[in-house]
Amino acid sequence: MCGIVGYTGHRQAYPIVIKGLKRLEYRGYDSAGVALQQDNKITIYKKKGKVSDLEDAIGTSNISGTTGIGHTRWATHGEPSDRNAHPHYSASGKIAMIHNGIIENYAQLKTELEKKGYSFKSDTDTEVLLNFIEEIKTHNNCSLEEAIRIALKRVTGAYVILVIDDENPDTIIAARKGSPLVIGVGKNEHFLGSDASPMLEYTKEVVYVNDYELAIVKPDELILKNLGNEKITPYVQKLDMELADIEKGGYDHFMLKEIFEQPTSIYDCLRGRLDANAGSITLSGIEQHADKIINANRIIIIACGTSWHAGLTAEYIIEELCRINVEVEYASEFRYRNPIINEGDVILAISQSGETADTLVAIENAKSKGATILGVVNVVGSSIARASHAGVYTHAGPEIGVASTKAFTAQLTVLTMIALKLAYVKGTLSMHRYRELLKELDSVPEKVAWILNHQESIKRIAEKYKDAHSFLYLGRGYNFPIALEGALKLKEISYIHAEGYPAAEMKHGPIALVDENLPVVFVATKDTYHEKILSNMQEIKARKGKLIAVVTEGDEVASKLCDDVLVVPEADEIIAPLLNVIPLQLLSYYIGVAKGYDVDKPRNLAKSVTVE
Ligand code: F6R
Repeated sequence: MCGIVGYTGHRQAYPIVIKGLKRLEYRGYDSAGVALQQDNKITIYKKKGKVSDLEDAIGTSNISGTTGIGHTRWATHGEPSDRNAHPHYSASGKIAMIHNGIIENYAQLKTELEKKGYSFKSDTDTEVLLNFIEEIKTHNNCSLEEAIRIALKRVTGAYVILVIDDENPDTIIAARKGSPLVIGVGKNEHFLGSDASPMLEYTKEVVYVNDYELAIVKPDELILKNLGNEKITPYVQKLDMELADIEKGGYDHFMLKEIFEQPTSIYDCLRGRLDANAGSITLSGIEQHADKIINANRIIIIACGTSWHAGLTAEYIIEELCRINVEVEYASEFRYRNPIINEGDVILAISQSGETADTLVAIENAKSKGATILGVVNVVGSSIARASHAGVYTHAGPEIGVASTKAFTAQLTVLTMIALKLAYVKGTLSMHRYRELLKELDSVPEKVAWILNHQESIKRIAEKYKDAHSFLYLGRGYNFPIALEGALKLKEISYIHAEGYPAAEMKHGPIALVDENLPVVFVATKDTYHEKILSNMQEIKARKGKLIAVVTEGDEVASKLCDDVLVVPEADEIIAPLLNVIPLQLLSYYIGVAKGYDVDKPRNLAKSVTVE
């Protein structure tokens, strides 16, 4: 939530900051702003709306300055408006700050400051923290760095802050707790960002700043300290990311590009891990803890949103293949409900961004009670990856479309590999079945490519149903979570109400919704439950609902029942969810586009949810 960018060096800061903000817009896009150090003075430009609105507002005015910070906002405290947009000036106008996160005790700090005569121009927690810093600096007659350190010791909540002032030319002071911060190291220049995308064309050398660290960043110097003012040696890492990874590459939207990348992203995820011919799976993070996992009291999967759906699918797969008790929890509930956790529990945390605040805190809670934490994370070096004892990266590459697609299939691929690995170690599968599933998993990239090559009809189906007011998505067994995911994708980008439900549970309530205006999407590929789901489809048809279904190629019986079908190739039921979700992603995409919405930046959403 919220993207932050900073630059100090020998180039003009404004174009770098603006370009960086555009790349970080997936993190929030309700207002944007830039602050530049110009002639020992700070100038702020900010505007409600997207980064392009800010650019239009600034127009061709002559902006110069080689040190600057910028922000793209996802509102928490205070509605999206020019005055709540970041950066903010301190009361004296001499300090400017941007912030990603939430200052939980801001109300108390605000009251203290108001008693001292401060007034506020915005409704944000950020302006409170900034004035708190200024107050400490004035009162203690200390440096800005010292004041920030003192202030942050009083703050509860999450933050990344970038601060510039008019007394410290060419200097950005940054600090982090709970929100991501990457510093790019160039030659006589430094870049700062919520992720590495703003600095990609300038440097591949980066430092991931840790919680409770403070960075003093100058063109030719990067000093890292803890809040106790002790210096820390920056650990410089090489970025494994190319510019092409974060560009649209000829597609209309990132979401479509990412849907079409799935044969490659799934292949990348399997590469070097699955060897179907040798009958082996190599996952070193899991191997280190294999004994503990197969003997665990239970595996508790924690995640949010789409990642939670991947976790729910994994529950079905792990219990079936490994006979280990699995529970799936929403991280946001788990973190607050004082769950019973023992040392024999293994936590499997799933996250694309690796920064989701609820998941991160849930991990820390479980860790403090002795659980082993395994992470299934996409973003390398992210907070969740670092908070885990071990894990498996999903290697899907940067996912920029706000609605998750390729990260989901990469998560499912990793989770299926984990299940197969554990089943092998535990000996719960016959060698024949194990090898059969390895081959099936190996064939997924090819089958996904087949689905993507047969997608012309999906556009037509999208056009036909785009004006429906509501959709029902139904599935059973391994495909129940896929029905949930299909419904989530549709509501996210088309703003049509959609509900996912277990197909058999439908008759206990939602069937009352069915009439000739309700499209009902079944995930009805051939599996153990096939006959049962055909009966559920008949029940909908008898009530005149519009039947759309994901069906196995050649399944005449299911196809004849339906008004429209989304065809996928035949696959083992354990592997099928990986395929069945693809036409549902495309259906949502084309409905969103047909309705004229910005599918890459759906309203009210942000890619990385670093607030609770
Ligand atoms: C939906 C979506 C969200 C995320 C959720 C968790 O398309 O992207 O529901 O899945 O916010 O995010 P991560 O996986 O980054 O922890």
